[in-house]
Formats: sequence, structure tokens, C-alpha cells
Amino acid sequence: MKFFIDTANLDDIQKAYKMGILSGVTTNPSLVVKEGVKFEDRIEEILKAVPEVESVSAEVTPDAVTAEQMIAEANELIKINGGDKNITIKLPMTLAGLEACRYLTKKGVKTNVTLIFTVNQALLAARAGATYVSPFLGRLDDISEDGVQLVAKIAELFRVANLDTQIIAASVRHPDHVTRVALAGAHISTIPYSVIEQLSKHPLTDQGLDKFAKDWAKSVK
Ligand code: G3P
Repeated sequence: MKFFIDTANLDDIQKAYKMGILSGVTTNPSLVVKEGVKFEDRIEEILKAVPEVESVSAEVTPDAVTAEQMIAEANELIKINGGDKNITIKLPMTLAGLEACRYLTKKGVKTNVTLIFTVNQALLAARAGATYVSPFLGRLDDISEDGVQLVAKIAELFRVANLDTQIIAASVRHPDHVTRVALAGAHISTIPYSVIEQLSKHPLTDQGLDKFAKDWAKSVK
């Protein structure tokens, strides 16, 4: 399973990129607004900051409701950073989003259909040619449904139906989500920087380092 970072915060993106573990970036309107920057400018900064990834998702705005409106916004987004090959158009899981997805796929543009909460939604998006689908597991857990189970079912369906759409497990809240979606067959997990940090930590690692440092202080100089 690959790691994407789920943020529009440039510092966090740069820190994760430096670690060498990053395969992509996902953003959404809420994440961009949180940064207090102009959407297109931030997408350009992100694309420049992470040249060696496979995808940077930029979502059409909530103002785009029809397929035509989504396609018009996508046509502007794909020009950013000189037509960067990594730009991926994130589209909502609506009938208009599916129509825009099929259109953009035919044009060779990468797409990520977002706000997926059922296997059927994932199947529709895959059939519309989506490069990626984004099931939101944390938000399902929030309403007492099993988000990881949804990812497992989508992975199973894509396997038996031989669909090459990749699953981005999104709305990931903690390290256990990451382990479980990896085992469930997600291709990618998109996670906030705080969760990436948590993944790297264990108290016994800290204790071990502390013991090495204490023993080393007694070494023959
Ligand atoms: O990538 C989708 C993600 O940003 C949603 O996460 O935590 O707002 O449910 P959350």
C-alpha cells in the first residue's frame, strides 16, 4: 500500500516528501480553506514541491454542480504548473461527477471520485473510468458503520471484476485504520501528517534509544 498525504499544508507536505514515503497528495475544499490561501496558487505550490509523486488531487469547487461546470473547472486546473502530469481532478460522487469523470478519462486526465460510502458508488466510479476512488472510512465509523469493511469489500470487488481503479482509503484517523486498510487491500491510504508521525513511533523504540544513549555514555573514550 502506498501513502498519500491528506492536506493542503505545504510544510507538512514537504516534511512527508523528505521522508521519502510519499506517493501523492490529496486536498479538498475544506483543507484548502483551512490554509487561507488561493486554491489554484496552493495547488501550483504543491505540484512544484512534490515532483516525484504519482498524483496531486485538486477537487472541483462546490460551485461546480453540473458536469459542464466541473469540466470547465477541470480544464483550468489541468493547465496549472504548465500542464503538470500529476494533477488529478477530484470529482464528487454524483451523477454529474460520473459524467465529468468519463469525459476527463477519455481526454487522458487522471480522476479521483470522492465521498464514496458504498460498494455500488465505487463500482459506478470505476466503470466511469476513475483512476482512483476515495472511500471515507472515518466518517462511516463516526455513524457506527465499519469503514474498513467497506474498503475490504471494494477491494474484493475490484479484484474479481478485474478493475484497475485504485482505492484511496480516505478519512483515516489513526494508525490502526492504516494497518487495517493495508490488510484489506487498499492500494493507497491518504493520511494527515499527524498520523504519519504516529506511524513512526513506539514507546519501546524511544526506550531502546534512551538505553543505547545511556550505555554509550559509559563507553571507553
Ligand atoms: O480525504 C478525505 C478526508 O480529508 C476526509 O477526512 O477527517 O474530514 O473525514 P475527514
